[in-house]
Amino acid sequence: MDLKKIFSEVLNDNQVSDQAEDLANYGKDWTKHFTPNASLVLFPRNTAEVQLIIKLCNQHKIEIIPSGGRTGLSAGATATNKEVILSLEKMNKIKQFNPLDQTLECEAGAILEDIQNTAKDKGYYYPVDFAARGSCQIGGNLATNAGGIKVIRYGLTRNWVAGLTVVTGSGEILKINNGLIKNATGYDLRHLFIGSEGTLGVITEVLLKLTTTPKDLLVMTFATPTLDGIMNIYKSFRDCLTLTAFESYTDVCLNYVEAAGRVKSPLQEKAPYYLLIEFENTDGQMDKAMEVFEQCMEAGWIIDGVISQNDQQSKDLWALREDITEATSVKHPYKNDISVNISKVPIFLEQMTKIISEKHPDFEVAWFGHIGDGNLHVNILKPDHLNSDEFMKKCKEVDKEMFAMIKTLGGSVSAEHGVGLVKKNYLDHTRSGDEIKYMKQIKSIFDPNGILNPGKLLP
Ligand code: FAD
Ligand code: MLT
Ligand code: ZN
Repeated sequence: MDLKKIFSEVLNDNQVSDQAEDLANYGKDWTKHFTPNASLVLFPRNTAEVQLIIKLCNQHKIEIIPSGGRTGLSAGATATNKEVILSLEKMNKIKQFNPLDQTLECEAGAILEDIQNTAKDKGYYYPVDFAARGSCQIGGNLATNAGGIKVIRYGLTRNWVAGLTVVTGSGEILKINNGLIKNATGYDLRHLFIGSEGTLGVITEVLLKLTTTPKDLLVMTFATPTLDGIMNIYKSFRDCLTLTAFESYTDVCLNYVEAAGRVKSPLQEKAPYYLLIEFENTDGQMDKAMEVFEQCMEAGWIIDGVISQNDQQSKDLWALREDITEATSVKHPYKNDISVNISKVPIFLEQMTKIISEKHPDFEVAWFGHIGDGNLHVNILKPDHLNSDEFMKKCKEVDKEMFAMIKTLGGSVSAEHGVGLVKKNYLDHTRSGDEIKYMKQIKSIFDPNGILNPGKLLP
């Protein structure tokens, strides 16, 4: 099949690429464990062109992968099997701000940071935020229902979608919800497409809700000697303050971040665990925070702490947490992204440490994450004496035990990064057989020919 010829019926030459560099680049995401093997990359400019592409794919049974900023950590946007890539890169406009509705209309390829900055320029705030903000796209954020560092206060991407346009796998254009706050007319299809990882449709336009800008955010960082202490600190601060973040990392993570040389911890004391909390300094919140801090020090849960005095210090404290992904990437981490109920975080951490250290004492683990959401990123760092294949094999052995434990705890094998290729064989550890059956039926309604992101998400 001459794919290039087929798509040149509906796209210009500069919207179709089979250049080796593009195939390699657009064929992979941040997971990097998979060898890209794409056959073509397409760059539509609007919803109508996406529809034409999807219709051709159905006609010729061509498998196609929606591709955003390719910052995904679950191999959701990777092409390993000669698929065609549909990049939303050229659909990156931020179109219309509606001050009364407090909404922002964007194309799906708009970059998260551009959206945040536009909201800021208009005097509002788009609250979903995380370290990939400079390159991930809003369409990718919807497709993965991205979480990030402010979930404790603002929730997931799902909470901020007032409407969306999608081209389904069978090629229909659906414009869903039109920005309505209240709309009690049956199934809310928005929520099927959010988190569907490109398996039901291509999201082409998004109408986002905005909120008021938080005032005078303060950041505190603590050194904490015990896991139980962390949970006590969490409860103490959560009960007294409206937190905008409650994040954690270990000494291992901090060592890698400091070794990267961009930031240094201002704390005097060393500890196995560190916490970052953030809150708005309104209505005497800082005084309350200082009071709780003193109580936690007296209880021995915190052994050292700092509070940001200006914006630069806040940024530096955040960098100690946000730079972990980049800083540990030199060790080719095997990444997991799990969640449990907050009350079960200590038991998860205890058992996870036991599983890994007993069988693989040579593994260094850098865990960190959104502990206030019960979401931890467990990164196993590759020891130098193992080659990639040996390392992967051993990590997959760890997966088996760790996910069995997650199942027992009633947790999730993917809290926020999605299932993609990397977790699909463990979907049944979080979803029941009946749920998976219904998910497959939903897929077949929207994508009857199975052309959209085949082999991802569903086992
Ligand atoms: P891609 O990686 O391109 O694609 C992700 C999935 O969405 C794929 O299945 C793809 O097929 C599908 N897709 C993309 N665009 C569309 C579309 N328009 N229509 C339909 N399907 C589409 N994630 C978090 O949730 N929280 C974090 O804190 C976080 N931090 C990160 C930090 C770093 C440094 C990095 C590298 C990643 C982080 N991520 C985080 C993961 C990633 O950034 C998110 O999953 C993000 O939402 C992916 O967006 P993307 O545009 O890069 O999507
Ligand atoms: C984060 O919270 O920093 C991310 O989800 C990225 C990661 O897990 O590496
Ligand atoms: Zn995260």
